[in-house]
Amino acid sequence: MPAIALTLPPGAEPGPATPFLKWAGGKTSLLSELLKHVPSPLRRYHEPFVGGGALFFAVAPRRAVLSDANGELIHCWRQVRDDVHAVLDALSVHVYDRVRFEAVRALEPLRLLPAERAARFIYLNKTCFNGLWRVNRAGRFNVPFGRYKNPTFHHPGLLLRASRALRGVQIHRAPFEIALQRASPGEFVYLDPPYDPVSETASFTSYTRNAFTWADQERLAAECAAIGRDPLTIRRAHVLLLRHQPHDQEEGHHRGHEVGIGDLPGTAVGCMRRLLDALDDDRL
Ligand SMILES: C[S@@+](CC[C@H](N)C(=O)[O-])C[C@H]1O[C@@H](n2cnc3c(N)ncnc32)[C@H](O)[C@@H]1O
Repeated sequence: MPAIALTLPPGAEPGPATPFLKWAGGKTSLLSELLKHVPSPLRRYHEPFVGGGALFFAVAPRRAVLSDANGELIHCWRQVRDDVHAVLDALSVHVYDRVRFEAVRALEPLRLLPAERAARFIYLNKTCFNGLWRVNRAGRFNVPFGRYKNPTFHHPGLLLRASRALRGVQIHRAPFEIALQRASPGEFVYLDPPYDPVSETASFTSYTRNAFTWADQERLAAECAAIGRDPLTIRRAHVLLLRHQPHDQEEGHHRGHEVGIGDLPGTAVGCMRRLLDALDDDRL
């Protein structure tokens, strides 16, 4: 379908941008709590595990650096920023149907045009089971078809608003260690890493070919713990870290969540404690 068909539905614009992907572990339900911890004025916003970017869209920062280790995800974010009309055109040819889904899933993303590759990502995200993004060891997307009444994957208003919010935003494919190095003194870093593995089979950590391991969680915690102690290494950025506690094998459930902070004013510790109390498994 040509770009001329991109007339927005009534009331779709203008308006605040919201996530254009469904992302496992997205924190939309916690936004009001999280927003209390975003400093004002905000110098620059960093989100090294951006996923669907729920907090990024809620904050709508003018200066931001977003990154994630998932290359297909980052390609999609960049295309929405840089060539949203081509992405919408490419999305308009997709159809919600099991056979078509399986055909699109089988496509090799690197052989597609950039906009087609981003459209494939959005289509699969909106039509697969639970909006999960999970890949096998070879890096191939392997989530099955999802049953929905009428999934909306071609949504011009949503994508155009997201594209506008992304103007001037830096978007990188990067592991968190590299992303953390981009934070300068006084900037804000929001860290929402993958869940800890609950078991070898029931893992929510395979957003990328290399699952996020317990050792990764420990490295991330160590980097955050260094904040304030070693300003040369970690640069005293304001950090908000959501940390999911490991699964309690004996009791059979997650032990809860922990929120770590770095270089926030003392009064923020109480807010963090309340946020910690508010976090429970049902809301994730
Ligand atoms: C819990 S999700 C983030 C959800 C996001 N805050 C949202 O609102 O949608 C965790 C993200 O971490 C990414 N990730 C996994 N391993 C990573 C790594 N080593 N470095 C950077 N990102 C990683 C995953 O691709 C996933 O998008």
